[in-house]
Amino acid sequence: MRLKKMVVAGTAALVAVALTACGSGFEAPAEGGTDAAGGAGAPEAETVFKVAFNQNADQPEAVAMTNLGERLAERTDGRYTLEVFPNETLGAQKDTVELVQSGTVDFALVAGSLLENFNPDFVALNLPYVYDSQEHQEAVLNDPEITGDLFSSIEDQNLRVLGGFSAGVRSVYNSSHPIEKPEDLDGLKIRVMESDTNTRMLDLMGGTGTPMGQGEVYTAIQSGVLDGGENNESIYANLKHAEVAPYYSYTKHLMIPDYLITSPAVFDAMSEEDRAVFLEELQVAYEESSELTTEIMTESQAAAEEAGAQFNEPDIEPFRKAVEPLLDESLTTDTAKDLYDSVRAAAE
Ligand code: GCU
Repeated sequence: MRLKKMVVAGTAALVAVALTACGSGFEAPAEGGTDAAGGAGAPEAETVFKVAFNQNADQPEAVAMTNLGERLAERTDGRYTLEVFPNETLGAQKDTVELVQSGTVDFALVAGSLLENFNPDFVALNLPYVYDSQEHQEAVLNDPEITGDLFSSIEDQNLRVLGGFSAGVRSVYNSSHPIEKPEDLDGLKIRVMESDTNTRMLDLMGGTGTPMGQGEVYTAIQSGVLDGGENNESIYANLKHAEVAPYYSYTKHLMIPDYLITSPAVFDAMSEEDRAVFLEELQVAYEESSELTTEIMTESQAAAEEAGAQFNEPDIEPFRKAVEPLLDESLTTDTAKDLYDSVRAAAE
């Protein structure tokens, strides 16, 4: 516990330095910050909210959030905008959740798996094969009739979920051979996100799940600490994992949403009117990100192939069967079970 506090304090100090160096802050237009849209300079407004993101600035969610910031500035007469800090500049996802909790960072985009550590019921929206398609996921994710009180359930821990983005379909990749069946994963150490469910899932799929932050994966595969990972085509191509793990097998086992999180104190400091504008524009951001996600996955597969990757399409049924025990093991509360059932019902 003490160690954890020290690590958080250390991270906060580093972030403070990074933020000062980037020159962002209240009352002053940010200078020299990374413009996620790739243009010159950072947005201007009285309050520039910092958004932590672990992927690069061209990824759909970063583009959609940057554009949301511009519309927010326009519609609030320059009171608020957003600045996206990509590439884990503010820390790996696990750290950025803590920075949002402490108010050091205003918003972060984080994978749903990490929120299981704050309320295990989130697992219902993260289980393997729970969604049939991106459309299915997007239809349920931001529907309050389905999510109920889930998004506000972690307010006692200074966290609020504003909504979820679809972040593609995840499949396994590795450095030694194509995966056709669960047995082919035997003996392979595959990186998973930092969640017990994901570790268990990979074990059930036939390999050994190894939790780790996204930024360390390339070197870990290169040095042989890992044999591979599991992610969507975009991250695979973008982080150049194809160079060290050229066998990408479409197990399509996970579609983990990325959530936009904030703290109630930050969000509720805005007027009711400004909050409503923010939430309205967030709906537009989901749509924009969704379209870009579809495009980027196709382009990324081609880019990875050019870089030497080989894609194969195993029969997914054996994998689906292999992870079935995870459902009973994970859905331990009535809320989680109901949530899972409603998501599945919406698929039918
Ligand atoms: C995807 C996902 C991220 C997640 C990452 C990972 O990129 O969108 O939220 O952090 O995978 O594997 O860590």
